[in-house]
Amino acid sequence: MPLLRLERPPEWSTDAAPPEPSALLAVKKPDVTRHADTADERLAAFGLRSLADLLAPSSLVIADDHLLLDGEYTRVLTLADLPPVVAAGWLNGVLAEHLAIDLSMHIRPLEGGAAASALKLKSWRLGGALNDDASNGRPIDNHLTTALEQIEGLRRGLARREIALFSVGLYLRLRASSRANLDELTQQVAGLLAAQAGAVLVPRLQQEQGFRACLPEARDALQVLHTLDTGTLSTIYPFVPSAPRIPGGILFGIDEQIHDLVELDLFDHRVCQNANVGIFAPSGGGKTFFTKVLARRYLLMTDNTDIIVIDRKHEYRALCEAMGGQFLRIAASSPHRINPFDLPPPDQRGEGSVLLDHIQQVLGLLDVLLAEPGQRLSLGERAVLDRAIKEAYQAAGVTEDPATHATPPPTMGTLQAVLDAEADLGSDVGRATAASLAERLAVFTSGSLAGGLLGGHTNVCLDSRLVVFGIEGLPEDLWSFAMYLIAGCVWQQVRQWPDRQRLLVVDEAWLLLQHRDGGRFLESIVRLARSYGLGLVFITQDIKNVLQDARGSVIAENVFTTLLLRQSGKSQQQTTQTQQLVAEQFGLSAEEQRMLGAAQPGHGLLLVGPWRVQLHVIASKAEERIAMTAPRERQALAAAASRGGGA
Ligand SMILES: Nc1ncnc2c1ncn2[C@@H]1O[C@H](COP(=O)(O)OP(=O)(O)O)[C@@H](O)[C@H]1O
Ligand SMILES: [Mg+2]
Repeated sequence: MPLLRLERPPEWSTDAAPPEPSALLAVKKPDVTRHADTADERLAAFGLRSLADLLAPSSLVIADDHLLLDGEYTRVLTLADLPPVVAAGWLNGVLAEHLAIDLSMHIRPLEGGAAASALKLKSWRLGGALNDDASNGRPIDNHLTTALEQIEGLRRGLARREIALFSVGLYLRLRASSRANLDELTQQVAGLLAAQAGAVLVPRLQQEQGFRACLPEARDALQVLHTLDTGTLSTIYPFVPSAPRIPGGILFGIDEQIHDLVELDLFDHRVCQNANVGIFAPSGGGKTFFTKVLARRYLLMTDNTDIIVIDRKHEYRALCEAMGGQFLRIAASSPHRINPFDLPPPDQRGEGSVLLDHIQQVLGLLDVLLAEPGQRLSLGERAVLDRAIKEAYQAAGVTEDPATHATPPPTMGTLQAVLDAEADLGSDVGRATAASLAERLAVFTSGSLAGGLLGGHTNVCLDSRLVVFGIEGLPEDLWSFAMYLIAGCVWQQVRQWPDRQRLLVVDEAWLLLQHRDGGRFLESIVRLARSYGLGLVFITQDIKNVLQDARGSVIAENVFTTLLLRQSGKSQQQTTQTQQLVAEQFGLSAEEQRMLGAAQPGHGLLLVGPWRVQLHVIASKAEERIAMTAPRERQALAAAASRGGGA
């Protein structure tokens, strides 16, 4: 009976060259000669069963391109060519098919010094060839320059010990029940790798060595090796989870690498630590398109998720009309009011003073409203306002005693009255400041904007499954303030009734983030949203500003799901700077950067915690009609639908 030795012989170490493998059929019988003196003892020893006897196959046929092991056909393939450009987990594409494949990797660190001198020689040769071309007036060969750049990059990395080199053997063992199935499986695997521009090879007359290389013996008898640097090696690691696919999740799009659906539920705590989403791309990348499609799917597929949108350009109106949502047009003449003095519900942990905390919130809001563009209120102005807000609450009968919090709060009108009184009667220093603040506030309480958003007690309520606040009708310098005010009102109502799941979409969120208080407020929402069943969808095209901003980068880090769409803008220099920032913030590989630089609208990279998916956002005709932003596109789609009877 043929026996296999599964344990590694003690004399062999990774430093020495592996010993010549013995043929599998060469029977490794127990060494009976050492202890057995008589023929009978020897025969008795042969009669004992060892573990190896039990494990070993009863038959093995070695053919030139496969083995037949106990009736099972098996073939070892080697990876002859690695794909030229790879993204992390690329081998997943092959493994995700759940074919009968075992993957075997032999990784051996190489000493940097030896590699460095070989690289130096290569670099000289390439440099020499390029110089020769230049001096003889021949055109520059791009292949040579790219190779030289890569080699120089490697040498730099090696010298700084940022990268190491590895010798890597990669083998795939296929299993099938018949020869025909084995050939078919081979074709399939070769095809999957060819799709990634890699190539496999069937080692002829070396199947036995290949089989050994796939045994858990840590011995590479086949020795088809590749020299790889750390970065490339890490992309081969096959256990990076690929597309998150949560049964019953919402369709996000298609994973372009493995052509599978990406389904995810942002509120599934087993997968997503929080439901916050960050969407970063320059204008036209497909941010709003994706968000509208996602919102529609949440409304249709779930019955416990509400969507609230702060819409700067009234782009969500079509969605609102199609889904029977509530569109609140916020403008000087509109009847919708939000009173910033509304008190939030008491803190769940019962910490802090509700009134004092909220006064800080109102102060932050008024800072955005009353300060000169790009500036903040002075310390003196903040002190006067702080006092005035407290007095306004007192005038309305609201104190720190929670029993008084049910009384109707003051309004902007109350604050105006307090400031006016201060301007008339206050101390010399305070009087001038109060007068100046009162004058600026008067525009919103008795001036042209008096009837609008701040004109009285709150009358907007999130009682519809989709509520869109359209702020386009407000003067441009009030957009940031309006976003802040609306987000504050939504946050209060969410905390008051945390029984539902909600997505709060802030499109063009940089407008809010550029003010210190607005940024702080958004950051606190991102941190606390999860406890109240809220997910903030943070959308921005000002990626550079957001990522360079301290609060912006905290927000980017604290959203569990990030969608990066096409990352190329108008000017080359700006694009490169932004791309570098994005690459650093999200740890993108060179290939991922290249992919994002050239992506079409609706194509990008979805990062969900540890997952990385090359996403294509797909939409049905009905969804496209709602999600297309350009009026011309929407008209064309509507016309096509009426001709064809709808989609
Ligand atoms: N997933 C997609 N499929 C098809 N077209 C898309 C997709 N995403 C974006 N587009 C096209 O790009 C245009 C701009 O998209 P939009 O979402 O408004 O960009 P952004 O909000 O990033 O500025 C859309 O009107 C549409 O024509
Ligand atoms: Mg947009």
